[in-house]
Amino acid sequence: MAATAPLTTSDIRRLFLEYQAGSGHAVLERAELVPRNDPTTLFTGSGMQPLLPYLLGADHPSGDRLADSQTCLRSQDMEEVGDNRHTTFFEMLGNWSLGAYFKEEQIPALWHFLTHVAGLDPERIFVSVFDGDPDRDIPRDDDSADIWERLFLAAGVSADRVDLRTEEHGNAVGNQGARIAFYGDKNWWSRGGSPDATPIGDPCGPDTEVFYFFPDVKHDTAYGAFTHQNSDGGQFLEIGNSVFMEYQRKQEGFIKLPRHQVDFGGGLERIAAAAIDSPDVFRTSLLWPLVARLEELAGTSYEAHQTELRIIADHARGAIFLANDGVRPSNKQQGYVMRRLLRRAMRFAHGLGVEKNFLGTLVPVVVSMYGDAYPELAARQQEIETSLSKEERSFRRTLAKGLRELRRFSAEGQLGGQAFFTLSDTYGFPVELSHEEAVSQALDVSPAWRDEFDLLMAQQRERSQKTATLGVK
Ligand code: GLY
Repeated sequence: MAATAPLTTSDIRRLFLEYQAGSGHAVLERAELVPRNDPTTLFTGSGMQPLLPYLLGADHPSGDRLADSQTCLRSQDMEEVGDNRHTTFFEMLGNWSLGAYFKEEQIPALWHFLTHVAGLDPERIFVSVFDGDPDRDIPRDDDSADIWERLFLAAGVSADRVDLRTEEHGNAVGNQGARIAFYGDKNWWSRGGSPDATPIGDPCGPDTEVFYFFPDVKHDTAYGAFTHQNSDGGQFLEIGNSVFMEYQRKQEGFIKLPRHQVDFGGGLERIAAAAIDSPDVFRTSLLWPLVARLEELAGTSYEAHQTELRIIADHARGAIFLANDGVRPSNKQQGYVMRRLLRRAMRFAHGLGVEKNFLGTLVPVVVSMYGDAYPELAARQQEIETSLSKEERSFRRTLAKGLRELRRFSAEGQLGGQAFFTLSDTYGFPVELSHEEAVSQALDVSPAWRDEFDLLMAQQRERSQKTATLGVK
């Protein structure tokens, strides 16, 4: 029998949406990366964000079963990119129950999707569930654990439980092979994270998380003596979570929402990585063509320069999607994040010896990878290329000189706010980029650099406001 080709990332997106449609979910278009009518946040950073009013009780026009694949950008993760799993831009597969079903339907449906549709090995699926919060009167989620146990046992897979409570405790004792691990705050989901960090007014709840186990990865003991579901030691990759959104945080505490709701979020690239049995999301089909193109451009190999190629690929892809959604590089808000992504990508490419302009040439690669799902990219290809190329021409003029200046400032003494201000003002170096560069070269940086820099920026703003008020050109 001919071997079947592994599923691509696009296959998994399509199969997930078809699967959800098959159980009565209305499939929604992705929301753009810049949220409409929400000035509190720069980017759409999770699947639930565009659905917030509905999770708080409003009726959705498409019904109470919804699904989508939501493009997300998490700029706060920019400096984490470089390992095998973090990206600033990603897609989150989602399905929601707005009172239509709860754990008993959702967990088995997810299990079926992962093991029968995406083809994951049941032996390598591990989960975590909420351990309860007695101080807040929120019970331990034994129901989810019981459902998981039934599913594992029916598939002939062990289903032992362990109570790990915190990541630190897990690092110290390991999961001892237990399939179902209980944690406290780690299994609470809100946009802010733990119960204490839940924004007032937001919906939230306990969640159950799904991990894929990579036995061939060596556990990194820098993250604890033993491994467990929530360890950062490399063997476990979180591929999705089902939040049982039953609560809303109010000033006075957590109240129950009027209906039982589910918010499943699955990392598309992470599920795709599990499906090709790779712990590296950059090996999946919506990133690898960019890496391969960059290998050619830089005349190097992924093995030799993994971190740099991952950063450039991720940042270029994120910036291309931002351009597609109408953002342009600037010194403010979303435009500043786009500028940071592009300039950071250019900085790393420069370090690999890429001297000619390359960003525009990555646009057709992204357009062809995403053409089936997001044809608007092809329609806007020219304007996206123009925007990236313009930014590249402008920063290239000052990049090498700014890097030399950074070293010269450092040779003159400790780097402080003034050096970073000059690099930003004269050479267009985003301050985060200069600081990161200084740290990576082990240069001496003043502990007060950020305050000094912010003060100089505030003074500069004040000067330009005065100039504008006086009408001086
Ligand atoms: N399911 C919630 C999230 O991860 O965005």
